[in-house]
Amino acid sequence: MSESNDSQSFDIIKESHALSGEPEQLAEFYQKWADTYDEDVSNEEYTGPEYITNYFIDILQKENNQADNQLKILDAGCGTGLVGIVLDKKGYHNLDGCDLSEEMVEVAKQTGVYQTLNGGIDINNMKSFSDAQYDATISCGVFTLGHVPPTAIKELLRITKKDGLVVVSTRSSYYDSTDFQAVCDSLEQEGQVKILDHSTGPYIAEEDAHYWAFRVC
Ligand SMILES: C[S@@+](CC[C@H](N)C(=O)[O-])C[C@H]1O[C@@H](n2cnc3c(N)ncnc32)[C@H](O)[C@@H]1O
Repeated sequence: MSESNDSQSFDIIKESHALSGEPEQLAEFYQKWADTYDEDVSNEEYTGPEYITNYFIDILQKENNQADNQLKILDAGCGTGLVGIVLDKKGYHNLDGCDLSEEMVEVAKQTGVYQTLNGGIDINNMKSFSDAQYDATISCGVFTLGHVPPTAIKELLRITKKDGLVVVSTRSSYYDSTDFQAVCDSLEQEGQVKILDHSTGPYIAEEDAHYWAFRVC
């Protein structure tokens, strides 16, 4: 895809929300989008990565009375690495990334901020990841229309250590039209997770997102 103007950027983001959630279709879509993704989301004032990183650090500070920057963190659905870049700037260098799209991961490699990066990883079923592998998991822009179902949160919890932190964004249109809240409430009732925080914040020009912080039980 070649250089985008603002209206093309808006349109491609909308197009991504109309996908089926089928991993093959998403992988094909992001294969074509990888080269111009950063430009398109910048045209639409995508501030989610900056916001979620500050949110993550705030929660760490509140929960642990310190924001330990040695934590082993996974950026799940890292895309081109926009979250990793901000984490790196804030001093968090013990960072891995994974994404369904090999091409998005190729762009993320160029950031130089991830220790390990894996493409071809579907967060609905992260077979190659062990239980309790990470101190913290962060995921921005993945719980969005056309991408993954709310139940994908269970895999992010599984691969995160007990007492570890999972922080995700859910774009408002996704939050409003899925049962994400109900899925999280029932995980909390089952004692699998504690919802530490749920609040709204800036995300992209068109709309805000809900931001969630979970402690794995
Ligand atoms: C809107 S982008 C967000 C990327 C990055 N986190 C950011 O904030 O810029 C969504 C990303 O989710 C990835 N993705 C979509 N479905 C996925 C799945 N089932 N498993 C893993 N990644 C997925 C896409 O390949 C894409 O890189």
